[in-house]
Amino acid sequence: MTESRQRFYHLTTFGCQMNEHDSERIRGVLEEDGWMPAVEPDDADLLLFNTCSVRESAVSRLRGRLGEARRLKNEKPERLIGLAGCFAQNRKVEIFRDMPFLDLAFGPQNIADLPALLDSAESGSGQSGSFSDNDFLSAALPARRKIKYRAWVQAMTGCTNFCSYCVVPSVRGPERSRSARDIIEEVKRLVDDGVIEITILGQNVNSYGLDRDPGTADRVSFADLLMKLDAIEGLRRIRFMTSHPKDLGNDLVEAMRDLPKVCEHLHLPVQSGANRILDRMKRGYSREHYLELVENLYEQIPGVSLTTDIIVGFPGEKEEDFYRTMTLAAECQFDGAFTFMYSRRDGTAAADLPGRLPDATVKRRMHELVSLTQQIALVKNEAIIGEPVEVLIEGPSSRGDGLRGRTRQNKVVNYVAGASVKNKAEGCFTTVTIDSATSTTLKGRQACD
Ligand code: 5AD
Ligand code: SF4
Repeated sequence: MTESRQRFYHLTTFGCQMNEHDSERIRGVLEEDGWMPAVEPDDADLLLFNTCSVRESAVSRLRGRLGEARRLKNEKPERLIGLAGCFAQNRKVEIFRDMPFLDLAFGPQNIADLPALLDSAESGSGQSGSFSDNDFLSAALPARRKIKYRAWVQAMTGCTNFCSYCVVPSVRGPERSRSARDIIEEVKRLVDDGVIEITILGQNVNSYGLDRDPGTADRVSFADLLMKLDAIEGLRRIRFMTSHPKDLGNDLVEAMRDLPKVCEHLHLPVQSGANRILDRMKRGYSREHYLELVENLYEQIPGVSLTTDIIVGFPGEKEEDFYRTMTLAAECQFDGAFTFMYSRRDGTAAADLPGRLPDATVKRRMHELVSLTQQIALVKNEAIIGEPVEVLIEGPSSRGDGLRGRTRQNKVVNYVAGASVKNKAEGCFTTVTIDSATSTTLKGRQACD
């Protein structure tokens, strides 16, 4: 750093956990470069947005926030505005023309270039960007984590599935897996640093390793990677996401069943319950295959919780297709479902499909699906009432009258700590007996420990 005055940044993150994790690297790179986090955008010299372009709703929220950033820049013109992430990458050609107030922009694979972009912006050489699709995995960059006991670990980047609605393959590039050795070393370092729970990230973890040279000794399957991670002393919980139904093998189900640290929760996006729509989405599996996977999961892994993603109103979705999604949701008894209204993305195969549905139809279907999936989630959560569950303590509950933690099944538990109970610290384990439930949370009291 050449400046003598302390400089402050403010970072806002949109989108998925991969983006949250990239933001940890952005913070790491900035802080290594001498920047400090500002509490409010008002106090910052750099307003940075890590963007998402998976759905239009994230882009609209970004536009709102950029309006505010422009006002702040008008107040103090030397303030810098930067865009990172998928939206920036996706609009790399026109972004500086469309947004003349931007000082810098870079894609998800160019976080390492941030100090150089800032130098160039500060020296007054105009707008600067970095969008090369290099093979560099940001995993090697420094990261600033907000939570001491929990960490994300990137196993792979990109996606090669090209589901017809999805912008991810074109913005994040093809699937590339990190070597198992690198991942294990990173997890060991994190554990030495106090981490007890990791979440392994990849767009499709089930195909982890398949892109690596078959000749290398380091090419292992995802189930084998989990086995190696499970052996790391000091680590207590392992989570992973996202799984793809077309590539989910029984070896992974067995790993979840047999490895003590691997938590009993699977996020398995189904997207639709109708074969006609799954075909048009290019998902590569059928409704029947998905139902078989789910049956096998429930059979083999006692107490497993299952969550999913569903898109409503895909082009050409007929009423009968939608009801297939409803009956699939009822059969699968999901513990939670993230439901999205189809959002047309430029450059995707589905963007040109005929059969766009009226908004009112999509909203009505969405409403029906949400009320069904909430009802199911409530019944599943109520089934836990009376049981003791292991909870990793995360801090005070949002209402502030107790504590909050998470079960192995990834369910949030709010509870009242017993007066005589010692164990109340964030990052510690405790046992809570569940007294009541909603569709999204459990409530209970701490057993003696
Ligand atoms: N429209 C609506 N939802 C989408 N998703 C991805 N692309 C779109 C789109 N164009 C959803 C999928 C995916 C989740 C991360 O976002 O359900 O699993
Ligand atoms: Fe998108 Fe499909 Fe890849 Fe998921 S698996 S990121 S939905 S293309």
